[in-house]
Amino acid sequence: TPAIAAQPEKVSVITTAHRGAMAYAPENTLVAFKVGIEQKATWIESDVQLSKDGVPILIHDTTLTRTTNVEEVFPDRAPWKVADFTLEEIKQLDAGSWFGEEFAGEQVPTLAEMVSQVRSSRSGIIMELKAPELYPGVEQEVIDVFDSFPGYVNSALASERLAVQSFNWDSMATYAELQPEVPVGLLGTVPVADLAAYGQWADQVNPNFGAVTADYVDAVHAAGMVINTYTVNEVADMARMLDYGVDGIITNRPDVLEDLLAQR
Ligand code: G3P
Ligand code: CA
Repeated sequence: TPAIAAQPEKVSVITTAHRGAMAYAPENTLVAFKVGIEQKATWIESDVQLSKDGVPILIHDTTLTRTTNVEEVFPDRAPWKVADFTLEEIKQLDAGSWFGEEFAGEQVPTLAEMVSQVRSSRSGIIMELKAPELYPGVEQEVIDVFDSFPGYVNSALASERLAVQSFNWDSMATYAELQPEVPVGLLGTVPVADLAAYGQWADQVNPNFGAVTADYVDAVHAAGMVINTYTVNEVADMARMLDYGVDGIITNRPDVLEDLLAQR
C-alpha cells in the first residue's frame, strides 16, 4: 500500500511568521523562513518583487539598501532599486550581515527557492505582492512559479496552506481572475461600506492591528471574509485581537503567539 502523505490538521487560529520570523533572523531569507517553520507558523509571510530580468524574488523594500550590502558591492548604482538589478547581481549580495554576523552569506531568495523549502514542511505561504504597480505582469510571474511545482497548489490549498495578499487591491483583483482557486487578501482597512462588494471576490481583509475593533471583525465576517491582522508582537495585543475574534495574527514572534494559544 502506498504511504499516504500526512496533511497538517486544519487550523483554528492562523499564525503567520512575518517576513519569516523576523525578530530572530534576517527578514525574507531562507533562514528566517526556517525559524518560522520551526516555530510552527501556519503560514510564512514574505514580500515578492521582480528583478530586472523578471524573476520573482523576496525582499520588502523597493530598494536593496536596508537589507543587503548592495552599496558596497555596486557603489555606482544609486538609488539601488530592486527593479534595476538582475537576479545574477542580486545573488551576489549579502542579505544577512546587517542583522548579525552569524547570518553572513544569507542571500535574497527567489520565490521558487522559498516554495521549494516550505512545501516540504507543515507550514504554508502567504505571499505579499509588494508594490505590484512597479512590476506589470507580476501576478502571472508569481503564478508561474507556483505552477512550476507539480501538484503544489492543489496540495497546499487542501490544507489551507497558500494565499496571496497586497496593499494594491487592483492587483489582487487581477490575481483572483488569473488563479481563482488561491485565496486573495486585501492588506489595509477596507471601509465597512465597501466590505460587501470586496467580499464578492476577495477572501481576506488584513489590517494593521491598531485599526481593528470587535465590530470591524464582525463586519468582515458578515461580508464572508476572514481577517488576519499585522504586525502583533506583544502578548497583550495578541490576546486582545484573539478576544475580538480575528482569524489570524501576523507576528515577528510566532513562538510567543504559539505559547499564548497553548494557554487559551
Ligand atoms: O503581512 C502584513 C505585513 O507584511 C504588511 O506590512 O510592511 O511588513 O509588508 P509590511
Ligand atoms: Ca509584507
